[in-house]
This record gives sequence, structure tokens and C-alpha cells, in this order.
Amino acid sequence: MLLETHVLQDTDPDLPALLADGFEVVGESWGAEFVIDGGAESTASLERLRGFVETARAAGLEIRELDARDAAAIESLDAESWVDVPTTPATVHVPVSALDVRDWATRGRRAFGALDGDRLVGLCVGAAGDNDFVVVAPDQRGRGIGGAVVAAWMLGAIEAGERSFSAGGALQNARSLAMIRAVGFRVTERWLSLQRP
Ligand SMILES: CC(C)(COP(=O)(O)OP(=O)(O)OC[C@H]1O[C@@H](n2cnc3c(N)ncnc32)[C@H](O)[C@@H]1OP(=O)(O)O)[C@@H](O)C(=O)NCCC(=O)NCCS
Repeated sequence: MLLETHVLQDTDPDLPALLADGFEVVGESWGAEFVIDGGAESTASLERLRGFVETARAAGLEIRELDARDAAAIESLDAESWVDVPTTPATVHVPVSALDVRDWATRGRRAFGALDGDRLVGLCVGAAGDNDFVVVAPDQRGRGIGGAVVAAWMLGAIEAGERSFSAGGALQNARSLAMIRAVGFRVTERWLSLQRP
């Protein structure tokens, strides 16, 4: 049965009425932003982003923009990487097929990846400043790869003129939240997913 679901910010004036009406919070998620405004803080942020990429390269990984030729590798990394990831009705990950990837460029999506030899071990994808998702192979997490691919994607967008970034995720996904904060994002929004049992 499809449950009626509402996703709204914790500041939404409709929230008390929905709770009084029997809806329950079934998931919490966050929204975060990162803005380059040209000040001294921005210079430090850019340095930090470059540092993530350089550290990964110094560890022997190739960090580069991905394209349609990487579609099969992206599909298989995506397929092996989401089973243990906490989710909410607001943050569902739709599996990526090689066919989707071949369409990314026409939809303004750019992806940056980390390769260990021939193996794709992490990627970050988004359009303009909107982060779509980040994923690192389960056996490669906690080594700085997530931070490096997010930073590479952001630096690519900044070079193309982007100044403002947004990202979001499930509150329960501690790794994702820690990574996005480490890269320099500021959490600005809290979202609640509500369903009626
Ligand atoms: C979220 C994810 C992309 C992070 O990638 P990663 O390569 O493991 O992250 P990094 O090693 O770059 O870590 C970045 C920061 O997060 C912190 N971190 C890493 N693993 C953590 C964990 N298990 N718990 C808390 N913090 C963690 C690190 O300490 C690091 O901060 P630091 O630079 O200040 O030390 C990865 O865990 C993943 O693929 N998860 C499944 C998919 C997913 O959840 N994607 C995000 C939703 S779109």
C-alpha cells in the first residue's frame, strides 16, 4: 500500500496540524550550502578543496572528470554501493544505469571520479551547483575519497563560474553528513518526512 507522505521543513507552519492529524515523523534529513563570495574565507575554502584533491592524488589515485566512456563503471559502482545506506522518503537513491549516464551531459550533469588503476572507486555527480549524489565503493570508505571527488566536482563547477552549492542527505547517514561538513558545507535546513501509520 502506498502511504501518504509529506516532506517538509521543521519550520513549516503546516507541521503541527499534520502531527495532530496522526502523521508521524519517519525520517529526518538535512540541506546544506556552500557559497563562494570572494572574501578571505572563500580563499581558504578553495585551498581546502584543492587539498582534498591533492591528498588523494598523492595517495596514488587518479581524480578526473568522467564521461560517457565511464558509463559501465559508474553503473557497477552504483549497483554495489547502496545496500547499507540509511535513507528517508526525502532522500531515496534511484539506481543509475549506463543509459542514464550517457544522457548526463545533455542534462547539464557533470561527474568527477576517483580511479585506483582501472577501477572506479568513487564519484560525485551534480548539475551546476546542485549536488546529486556521492558514492564510494564500500571497501574504500574512510580514506578521503568522498571528500576528494566532491572537491573535484566543486572545483570544476567553480571554474565554470558557479558560486553557490547545495547538498542534502539523511540525518542517519553519519558518514555523508561528516563528509559534507569536512568539505566546508554549512547545514542550513532540517527536513522531516511524515507518514500516517
Ligand atoms: C558518504 C561517502 C560518500 C563518504 O565517502 P568517504 O570516502 O567514506 O569519506 P571520506 O573518507 O572522504 O571522509 C570525509 C569525512 O567524513 C568523516 N568520516 C568518514 N567516515 C565516517 C564515519 N563512518 N563516521 C563519521 N565520520 C566519517 C571523515 O572523518 C572525514 O572527515 P575529516 O576529513 O575531517 O577526517 C561514503 O561513505 C559512501 O559512499 N557512502 C554510501 C553512499 C552515500 O551515503 N552517499 C551520500 C549520500 S548522497
